[in-house]
Amino acid sequence: MQAQDIERVLFTEEALRTRVAELAAQIDRDYAGREPMFISVLRGSFIFMADLVRAVTLPCKLDFMAVSSYGSGTTSSGQVKITKDLSENIEGRDIVVVEDILDSGNTLAYLLQILQARRPASIRLCTLLDKPSRRVKPVQADYVGFPVEDLFVVGYGLDYAERYRNLPYIGVLKPQVYEPAASGDA
Ligand code: IMP
Ligand code: MG
Repeated sequence: MQAQDIERVLFTEEALRTRVAELAAQIDRDYAGREPMFISVLRGSFIFMADLVRAVTLPCKLDFMAVSSYGSGTTSSGQVKITKDLSENIEGRDIVVVEDILDSGNTLAYLLQILQARRPASIRLCTLLDKPSRRVKPVQADYVGFPVEDLFVVGYGLDYAERYRNLPYIGVLKPQVYEPAASGDA
C-alpha cells in the first residue's frame, strides 16, 4: 500500500480542488479576450494540468514537453535535457508553463530560456507548489498553488522514483523511504 509510505497529508483532494479553481479563475481574468497556450512539463504536472484546464473557461490550446534533469535522489542539477519537445509553434502566443513544483529552479530556468528563444508573445509560469527556500536560480512563478517547506512531497502527479503519482492528495513521504537506515552518507 502506497499510503503507508506517507507520513502526513499536506493537501487533501478538496484543498487541491479549491485552490486549482482559484488559480483557474485568476487565469480566466488575466487572459480575458485572449487564447493562452498551456504547456505542461511532463510528467509531474499532468494531473494538475488536467484539472487546471478543465477549470479554465477561456478557449485555450495545450501542448506537452518533457525534460529530464540529471540529479540523483531527491535533488535536481543544472543539467537539463529535453526528452520530448513541443508539437506546436509558440511564436506570438501567450504561453502559460504548468509545473508541479518549483524547487531549485534549475529545470525552469533552462526551460524558460529555451521557450523565450522561440519568441512567444508572453510567458507566465504556473506552479502548483513552490519551495522558495530551495531556490538556486532566480525563477519566480506568476501563479502559485501553495508554498511548501523544504520537505519531499508526493502525490497528485508528483513522484519519488516514478511512484506515488496516482495518490489523489499530496503528502510528505516518510524519509526512510528514500534514506535507507543503514546509509551513513551525507
Ligand atoms: P528543480 O529543477 O530543482 O526546480 O526541480 C524541479 C523538479 O524536481 C520538479 O518538476 C519535480 O519533478 C522535482 N521535485 C522537486 N521537489 C520535489 C518534491 O518534493 N517531490 C517530488 N518531486 C520534486
Ligand atoms: Mg519528478
